[in-house]
Amino acid sequence: MRCRRRALLAVAVCLLLGLWWSLRVSTFGLRLPPSLPTVRCAVGANVSAWFAARYDAAVGPLLTGPAHELSPDVVRWWLTLQGPPGVVPLQDVMQKLFAVLPAPNGSAWVPSQCRTCAVVGNSGRLKGSRHGLQIDAHHWVLRMNRAKTAGFEVDVGTRTTHHFMYPESAMNLWPGVHLVLIPFKPLDLKWVTSAFSTGELTHTYTRVKQFIKADRNKVLILSPAFLKYIHENWTERHGRYPSTGFTALLFALHACQQVSVFGFGADSKGNWHHYWEENRWSGAFRRTRVHDADVEFSLIQRLADEGRILFYQ
Ligand code: C5P
Repeated sequence: MRCRRRALLAVAVCLLLGLWWSLRVSTFGLRLPPSLPTVRCAVGANVSAWFAARYDAAVGPLLTGPAHELSPDVVRWWLTLQGPPGVVPLQDVMQKLFAVLPAPNGSAWVPSQCRTCAVVGNSGRLKGSRHGLQIDAHHWVLRMNRAKTAGFEVDVGTRTTHHFMYPESAMNLWPGVHLVLIPFKPLDLKWVTSAFSTGELTHTYTRVKQFIKADRNKVLILSPAFLKYIHENWTERHGRYPSTGFTALLFALHACQQVSVFGFGADSKGNWHHYWEENRWSGAFRRTRVHDADVEFSLIQRLADEGRILFYQ
């Protein structure tokens, strides 16, 4: 009798152990670590003179509506970024934009005691990193341009809350994901208006998507004033304007209390490679002089050294 009871007990323990083990196996068939990563807020880091000289909380990252005022010097700088400046009826462009897309009401996000954000660049350094679970553990996951997750989940995660893009790098998004447009020229505002309505615009300096599949209620438009602020305060006029990745990182610094940074940095030969490509690409990004990759990278390292961000290399 006692033996039978012991045997039953042993079977029950085995069943429970089996259940516990199977719960640790994700839908991708991957074995999870003993506990899911937790991401904590490192609020309260001391403000260094270096950081205080650059960070300006008063500069809002977003365009807020048709009546949004851009100062003449912002407009003058913005119009030189891509293509020759011309006379642009900006008020008209913005009015049409916000007739098609809702303006963010007040702040686009609720001020948070602790919002943790993962900024995921497209660097090939992510290959084999196994950062997927860590990335997905953040409240917000920011990706950009042609970033893919399918097939790369273990290294880059599965979730996206914000996807940064411009017309020439645009891709369709899942419902619920914020499309964050970085406008490098007024034509980019016309494109997003068209891509969510008539589809009349199919060409900028290259062919662009006629329509985009994304949640129109979730579209956020980055302000050219924010780009100029990054260019002047942070990259200190190195390069012509900041990269998508560095822009997303600054957006996160302004919107999140804890910022973790993944997928930044060139390969050992200095090439700007992507994690989804066979990296025979020849570092064109560095040679264009559009962005200053070295300056951006050293800023990221300094932010990490000062405890402002967590930099996963
Ligand atoms: O190449 P792409 O611009 O789509 O990559 C997104 C961002 O990721 C870049 O703007 C850059 O900030 C970062 N990146 C990087 N190192 C690479 C590739 C991309 O830091 N090798």
